[in-house]
Amino acid sequence: MTNPIVESVGLDVERIRADFPILTQTIRGKKLVFLDSAASAQKPRVVIDAMVHAMETEYANVHRGLHWMSERITEAYEAARDAAALLMNAADRSEIVFVRNSTEAINLLAHSYGRGVMKRGQAVLISDMEHHSNIVPWQMLRDAHDIELRVAPITDAGELDMAAFEALLEDGKVGLVAITHMSNVLGTVTPAERIVQIAHAHGAKVMFDGSQAIVHRKVDVQALDCDFYAWTGHKLYGPTGIGVLWGRRELLERMPPFLGGGDMISSVTYEQTNWAAVPHKFEAGTPAILEGIGLKAAIDYVQAIGYDAMAAHEASLTEHALARLSAVPGVQILGQAQDRGGVVSFVLDKAHAHDVATLLDRQGVAVRAGHHCAEPLMRRFGLDSTARASFGIYTTHGEIDALADGLTRVRDFFQ
Ligand code: ALA
Repeated sequence: MTNPIVESVGLDVERIRADFPILTQTIRGKKLVFLDSAASAQKPRVVIDAMVHAMETEYANVHRGLHWMSERITEAYEAARDAAALLMNAADRSEIVFVRNSTEAINLLAHSYGRGVMKRGQAVLISDMEHHSNIVPWQMLRDAHDIELRVAPITDAGELDMAAFEALLEDGKVGLVAITHMSNVLGTVTPAERIVQIAHAHGAKVMFDGSQAIVHRKVDVQALDCDFYAWTGHKLYGPTGIGVLWGRRELLERMPPFLGGGDMISSVTYEQTNWAAVPHKFEAGTPAILEGIGLKAAIDYVQAIGYDAMAAHEASLTEHALARLSAVPGVQILGQAQDRGGVVSFVLDKAHAHDVATLLDRQGVAVRAGHHCAEPLMRRFGLDSTARASFGIYTTHGEIDALADGLTRVRDFFQ
């Protein structure tokens, strides 16, 4: 593992890139320019090796056996919980619930906290810049459990309208604010501390969808003072199939289980089942063992680099991207938030976003195009899709230049 990788001016990106085997590839005869890390990030060698090593030397099921292999793999898997707790500054490792991804974390919360703890007639407050995974579970709750769904508007710059947000809390009916910590489309970082202060003052709990934010900045759930925080491993350079729902222990204890089955019980008779203690109460069935081990390696990797260095690199990339892209004739960038992470969505006057992405791909530049699982947000800006470039720790300024030059060629083509 590369350690430590920080230079006085930021990250030694070339050293980081050497940790990611996939980045050495050429695509269509051109050097791969991967600008789609917000959809899923690439994996460093340490993550790949950790998973292969576990399969080759210590694989068995966890939490069940008394044999050597099972004990050893349980230890390796549970070390991921410690690493996640440390990453987020959770008060206790039992507050880390492993799920498949952020979507499952939010569904768990909607089912368990929404149906099991919230009262009919209460409301859930989201914002106008949510991913579908932070909209649809609440709609399902609304329809099944008589919970109102409120949506806080955003400004034309793509920031949360704080006055409107507060006004929506004023009647005291909102039981839960469920809001992104960083928009996957606009890059906007929401004012998390302020959101929590306002929500708590009005008696509401707060859940952040941190799928994007945790990749870009240090998340300290105790300093934020929030109640729940959801994120996914595959955007943090870890494997797919594992994510985290962090919750305050006293809240997790009040919540009923989401899925039933093995591993989440303390005893079962046909008459009655007693649940295991948190977090296992929420972790039915054989978990994502290898993915947990991969996630631990990813967290260690990120921690060794450090959030300060990652954030500085990303701020520099984002500034460069905003400058370069806005200089391309016909490009319009969506969102001008003051506080933003390394995600830039844009449209080109002469071509649909899908055509832009296809023609960029021919030049070896991978961006995402579409509604980015945020259709209401697209409608808010009168669009059906955008192209989106998103950055990781391995992204270089030269790759952003390749995107800008590629876009100029796309525009020339459609001219
Ligand atoms: N939610 C992921 C994205 O924004 C897939 O691309």
